[in-house]
Amino acid sequence: MSPVMPLPLTPSTNALQLVLYAPDNRHIARLGTMLSGHAEIRWVDSREISARQLLEGTPDDAVVLLDYCGGNAAYSTDIARQLSSQQPGTSLIGVGTTGPEQANHLLAAVRSGVRDFIDIDNTTTQMLEVFERVGSTPTPTRNMAMPAPETKPSGRLVLLLGVRPGVGTSTLATHLGAMLAEQDPPVPENGQLHSWLLLLDLGQPSADAALYLGMESHFNYEQALHSVERLDRTFAGTAFAHHASGLALLGNASGTLLKKHEPGALLDRLRSVFALTLCDAGGLPIQLLPDALLRSATEIWLVADQAIGSLVSLDQTVRELDQRGQRDARLKLIVNHYDANGGLADTQIAQRFQLPLLATIPDRSRVLRSNAGLGRLLTEAAPRDPYLKALAPLQHLLDRRQGATAAPAPASPLARLANLLGK
Ligand SMILES: Nc1ncnc2c1ncn2[C@@H]1O[C@H](COP(=O)(O)OP(=O)(O)OP(=O)(O)O)[C@@H](O)[C@H]1O
Ligand SMILES: [Mg+2]
Repeated sequence: MSPVMPLPLTPSTNALQLVLYAPDNRHIARLGTMLSGHAEIRWVDSREISARQLLEGTPDDAVVLLDYCGGNAAYSTDIARQLSSQQPGTSLIGVGTTGPEQANHLLAAVRSGVRDFIDIDNTTTQMLEVFERVGSTPTPTRNMAMPAPETKPSGRLVLLLGVRPGVGTSTLATHLGAMLAEQDPPVPENGQLHSWLLLLDLGQPSADAALYLGMESHFNYEQALHSVERLDRTFAGTAFAHHASGLALLGNASGTLLKKHEPGALLDRLRSVFALTLCDAGGLPIQLLPDALLRSATEIWLVADQAIGSLVSLDQTVRELDQRGQRDARLKLIVNHYDANGGLADTQIAQRFQLPLLATIPDRSRVLRSNAGLGRLLTEAAPRDPYLKALAPLQHLLDRRQGATAAPAPASPLARLANLLGK
């Protein structure tokens, strides 16, 4: 570890505290030399101390450095995710080298909460500039009691309600979410990528959406219910998992939770952070759907197929919604697994239930199954597949750019890098 030499970056009485949290100490000697006289730096072995222990033993204003050189990049992104979900607002800076592998890891790092990078070959001045920049960018405080500012819940909440298990709600939610996020990618803001689109996976079995997206999430719906006061754009940008398309994901680890908590406050907060929330409520008995979720929904899209069992469930669902006072113009129909020769026509189903028909999605079992098994969406594996073409009307309805002028992208170094990487 390097000696303590309190020569602050900015005119303050305290030296900048840096913690290199990595599985080896190969950079500590160089960083110690370069920053000697400007900062206190110490190495904490990430193989011995968990992310939580690190946060408990580190001062609030310390900056955590993560090693993005050589083979440690993916490891560091995982650690960044853990640190961000446990303590959103922690100042995380990557230590990297220039090179193609660095670029490959950049977006994942930023999405996991890394706010900037220093290059191990930088001069002292260049490193100090990065610390200054991160230090002067506002971050949420590490004080847990600090409430997020009040904002208006103006975002749309589209409830995708599968009328029975297996009708294809999670497949639809993930593909539609990724398509929308890809056509309108997040723009970096203050060194962070802010997604405008959230997939709230309340479907059962739990976590199907994460499975289909090939993602892992360290922060879930239950934690979000307990963090409503702190939930703002920065919190969501760091704590929520993000798919490569830019889609943010919040999943539910426990099916019983929905019965116990009315999520009105959380939904309001999510709608103030995300312009659009797609909520997968497939496979969930309608009796389990919280009133607040039904009330908050700006649209309720019923997903059914032509099978007789599905039509019976559609009938029951519409009746139940009627009894709960939620049968109104928000209700629309999507017919999935459609086979033109396979029974009642889509238009007949819509007519029978007096529901506007939003989309008819063809049966595409083989291609969907083979790619789901690999944690891959058709948007990546087969972008011209008829399944995706059939989602076009939904995509059009939810395209937030319709009629709106896109805001100009800020010309920060991260914005330029993200553009360079085609995101
Ligand atoms: N249009 C389609 N054509 C063929 N197979 C489909 C289609 N949509 C979904 N599937 C397949 O149906 C199965 C169930 O899909 P999915 O998990 O999306 O349904 P779900 O309604 O979310 O189910 P659950 O209620 O169990 O959560 C999956 O194997 C999926 O690949
Ligand atoms: Mg599902």
